[in-house]
Amino acid sequence: MTNIILPLSYLIGSITFILGLKMLSHPDSARRGNLVAAAGMTIAILATIFLYTDEAGNRLGNYGWIFGGLIIGSIVGTLAAKKVQMTAMPEMVSLFNGMGGACAMLISIIEFKHHTTGISPELYEEAGTTIFTIIPGTLFITIILGMVIGSVSFAGSIIAWGKLNGKIKDFSFNGQHIINLLLLGVITVLTIYIVAARPAITITLFYTVLALSLVYGILFVFPIGGADMPVVISLLNSFTGVAAAFGGFLYNNPVMLTGGILVGSAGTILTILMCKAMNRSLKNVLIGSFGGKKVSSGASGTKEQGNYKEISLNDTAVLMAYAQKVMIIPGYGLAVAQAQHACHELEKLLNDKGVEVFYGIHPVAGRMPGHMNVLLAEADVPYEKLLEMEDANDQMGSVNVVMILGANDVVNPAAKDDPGSPIYGMPILEVEKAEHVIVNKRSMKPGYAGIENELFFRPKTSMLFGDAKKVLQDLVSELKQM
Ligand code: TAP
Repeated sequence: MTNIILPLSYLIGSITFILGLKMLSHPDSARRGNLVAAAGMTIAILATIFLYTDEAGNRLGNYGWIFGGLIIGSIVGTLAAKKVQMTAMPEMVSLFNGMGGACAMLISIIEFKHHTTGISPELYEEAGTTIFTIIPGTLFITIILGMVIGSVSFAGSIIAWGKLNGKIKDFSFNGQHIINLLLLGVITVLTIYIVAARPAITITLFYTVLALSLVYGILFVFPIGGADMPVVISLLNSFTGVAAAFGGFLYNNPVMLTGGILVGSAGTILTILMCKAMNRSLKNVLIGSFGGKKVSSGASGTKEQGNYKEISLNDTAVLMAYAQKVMIIPGYGLAVAQAQHACHELEKLLNDKGVEVFYGIHPVAGRMPGHMNVLLAEADVPYEKLLEMEDANDQMGSVNVVMILGANDVVNPAAKDDPGSPIYGMPILEVEKAEHVIVNKRSMKPGYAGIENELFFRPKTSMLFGDAKKVLQDLVSELKQM
């Protein structure tokens, strides 16, 4: 019976993981998808703990340690997830991802030790350069690759976490990229050497590769611009998936293998999509050229493009109240201001006055994938009101008022018109097709890409300065009085 239940539980774990991932792609089913995948994994984990037996028929045992770890991990994870602010989500993902990488690394180290402890102690002691001979080739490749990838992911994710929450300061030196490449080269050569010369390899060399991989993970993430971290985290996430898949091979565990492969491929696809939506190559993100060159810009309104004009709260309220169709474009500033509830209130008020209101969502608005969708979902904005960029652009011609809330780069016309711009080629929300454009931000400072936005100086555009939350609350009060 056990023979059937264990593989069956792995099958359930694998299928629910795939279904859960699919369900995550729509906000209506995302919560359920998460639960379905978690339930499947719980079944697979419990089945492994209680039903798995080795070739000699021994069960896992060590239940105190296993459940102690499970309970502590669950408490810490639940509290962290409940406490985290939306804008701090990338750093939490990074930390959790780092733990996944650490697990993959530890699995490899433990399995390496496990397969080498059969050798006689005398051999171990021979000048600390003991030979191991009993690890089969494929198993050994799996162990060493899992260790290298897992440790790079662990060290890199911890640095990314520290950089995002300000605990670790940016650190770079001339020629860092060359040193990184050299280090990667040394790790690759040593790994190939260890695998090729397996029966005569020193244990010291194994741990040298481990140490170099940890150093590489640190140096690889250090020079990357802080705001590029979401792309790097997604890349590291795919590394962890691959490292976990090696663990699946190692233990011949199908659910670990499926989970690892899915996380690895999902992370890779997400990395590619994020780069595409920013019109940047992965190489460009890793070398960190964009976002590095900040253009200094004060609150001065006079630019080569001309002057900008301001609009009052009262005029904005009138313009919106008498519009037929309003499109709200949320951006990073809306998330920083935590103005999503005030924004939803404005939308409801306008609806009550017979104004049609939609949201135009740019794929990389904010600082993480789906940032605006999650932010607005938190304020119970109906999902049908969220238009993807292409649909929003199709409708833009019939919009009377576009209200840009804390967004900048994603509406910058330089992406279309200026081949010299670092964001040239990035698809944008074409807000100028609308009748009026109102931009809410606190100053004339640039956004993430560090470049001027000519939109602010164009004839259709009016600036409404102030913190997004305060401005929206004041607008709501104005509208209520109308
Ligand atoms: P940004 O271009 O970063 O612009 C945000 C604007 O919000 C700033 O210009 C800022 O101007 C304003 N702001 C900040 N705090 C505010 C507040 N409290 N109230 C009102 N306004 C406030 O944002 P975006 O248009 O959303 O574009 C996102 C950028 O991040 C893109 O360049 C994208 O490539 C990049 N990026 C995105 C991702 C993902 S996956 N989403 C990942 C990495 C990088 P003031 O300072 O003048 O207020």
